[in-house]
Amino acid sequence: MILMAGGTGTLGSVLAHVLQDARMPFRILTRSSDKASALKEAGLNAVIGDAENPADLASALSGCTAVVSAVSGFGPQSGSTPSAVDRGGNINLMKAAEAVGVRQFVLFSMRGASASHPLELARMKFAAERQLLGSSLEWTILRPTTILETYTAIMGESLRKSGVAVVFGRGDNPVNFVSARDLAAAGRFALEGRLNGQAVDVGGPDNLTLNALAALLIEGNGGGRTVRLPLPLLRAAAAGARLVAPQWGRVLGGAVHLGAADMSFDAAIERTKLPGVPYTPVREALASPDRSA
Ligand SMILES: NC(=O)c1ccc[n+]([C@@H]2O[C@H](COP(=O)([O-])OP(=O)(O)OC[C@H]3O[C@@H](n4cnc5c(N)ncnc54)[C@H](OP(=O)(O)O)[C@@H]3O)[C@@H](O)[C@H]2O)c1
Repeated sequence: MILMAGGTGTLGSVLAHVLQDARMPFRILTRSSDKASALKEAGLNAVIGDAENPADLASALSGCTAVVSAVSGFGPQSGSTPSAVDRGGNINLMKAAEAVGVRQFVLFSMRGASASHPLELARMKFAAERQLLGSSLEWTILRPTTILETYTAIMGESLRKSGVAVVFGRGDNPVNFVSARDLAAAGRFALEGRLNGQAVDVGGPDNLTLNALAALLIEGNGGGRTVRLPLPLLRAAAAGARLVAPQWGRVLGGAVHLGAADMSFDAAIERTKLPGVPYTPVREALASPDRSA
């Protein structure tokens, strides 16, 4: 039995279907009783619990031999923080897993995670990686680049609602996008024990600017226009938001990073570690979206 933390998220809900199709038994940890009920109605196994609360985890892990964690406290919808979830929650999961004799832990981190990264999220991911490396668990770390479906959801929603695709900055910064289907397949591959003791940066074949991604979405939407939010405006908004609504400060800081930092990546060499895992071009992923839980 696998405990999947983050199984209700963008990536986790695709991973749930991949594991279901592979007949790998798993249960999803969620903080929400509504989501747990919906998962059960969909025939999936769910347990209510909060990774921030160690007392919830022993029973959630009952009978488990592996944990896969795709949790995040980054967005405003999470109601929490990267330090509480991406670091604290993951460390709680690792400690609880060790305590009850779980063998394997697969951690979704992020590409570039380091102690000195400008984004708090990446520093918290790095702290979780360190804890895992120092644990007695058989570990795998998967470090996604930018998840395509996260941004197509944001841009797609504003396109549908107002005919506008919002782009951060001038939109000319190349970003490596990886599809949730590739990441979910990589998660399965790791859970099969084929990446034990390895950290793998998982990217996709395309480095696309946000302008190019917006153009693809506008084409798929049958129309719309791009609106660019200038980086100085985003920087100022991020600084202001940090004081009054830190969760939005983090999101706006992430938007600045996406618009200005080097986000490109040549994923091909790392992909040699993932034989059989799909390497999906952006255009193809947009044409046939994944099932999600
Ligand atoms: N999106 C990206 O571009 C990107 C890039 C690199 C790496 N990543 C990493 O890839 C993973 C998947 O990302 P995603 O975008 O799919 O995440 P997401 O959609 O934001 O989902 C977050 C998940 O975390 C769970 N969660 C949050 N706090 C929790 C807590 N205290 N206890 C238990 N579960 C908790 C949520 O479950 P409930 O709300 O049901 O409790 C939800 O399933 C994450 O680890 C993320 O940091 C993402």
